[in-house]
Amino acid sequence: MLSTVANKPDGTFDLQELEERIRGSNIHEPVTAMVAVENTHNYCGGKVLPLKFLDDVGALCKKHSLALHMDGARLFNACAHAQEEAARVVRDCDSVSVCFSKGLSAPVGSALVGSYHFIEQARRARKMLGGGMRQAGVLAAAALVALHEVVPLLALDHKRAQVLAKVIEGLFLKAFTVDAHNTHTNIVLVRISEHAPLTADQLVQRLAQVCLAETQGDCKTPNDEGVIVKATEFNSKTIRFTLHREITDEDLWLAIMKITYVFKELSSNLENK
Ligand SMILES: Cc1ncc(COP(=O)(O)O)c(C=O)c1O
Repeated sequence: MLSTVANKPDGTFDLQELEERIRGSNIHEPVTAMVAVENTHNYCGGKVLPLKFLDDVGALCKKHSLALHMDGARLFNACAHAQEEAARVVRDCDSVSVCFSKGLSAPVGSALVGSYHFIEQARRARKMLGGGMRQAGVLAAAALVALHEVVPLLALDHKRAQVLAKVIEGLFLKAFTVDAHNTHTNIVLVRISEHAPLTADQLVQRLAQVCLAETQGDCKTPNDEGVIVKATEFNSKTIRFTLHREITDEDLWLAIMKITYVFKELSSNLENK
């Protein structure tokens, strides 16, 4: 049974609240066995958990004999931002999961890391759930490329995400806000003003369309083609842009041109309403 502790905007949570949630003495309740943290924290916009916080969570888990798991689907992004080795970031964890797709660009694949006994148990659980795979070597090959060739490039994705966030921030549009200072990794969240009669879904759809006026102006590729930007709807008032290895500097500038065009267009439509 899961018990969730509310996240703070920086991806951390209150350690006192965590301690109060630890159960075991009351026979009507389940016994707390493990604490799980997510690093980077997707729903907080790819935020990197501070090492001090991780050290404190680790100490608290030791004090209460709890296992600590890190959902490190984006662990290498966290390491690139913190400029720390993965071994240091996960120092106090008993188990860690990492994902080779997403920013690491493998077509598929995740790995679970833990003690020999833990992995034996995980293999059994995987088999029971029908997740066993005999020819996993083809996936391991992609994972090796991800680790050796893509991890060193993550800092570039982060720089591009910074550029994108700062450009959007620099538009000073009331309807669309970005927190560039707190954009740590390759995820850029754009929040739509609560007062604007516009949903994240509508914004995502507009960014995926090209209107004639765009290609007749400057918002086009050198081949006179329109630009489509794929974003995801994060919640009804937030969209997410994600940078990755295949978004080059040239792609980034095209995306910035398109996003600027659409944000200004929608802002002036909203002002004229
Ligand atoms: C934070 C986080 N954890 C875990 C996962 C699951 O990864 P996988 O499906 O490779 O196990 C995802 C996938 O989207 C994720 O974003």
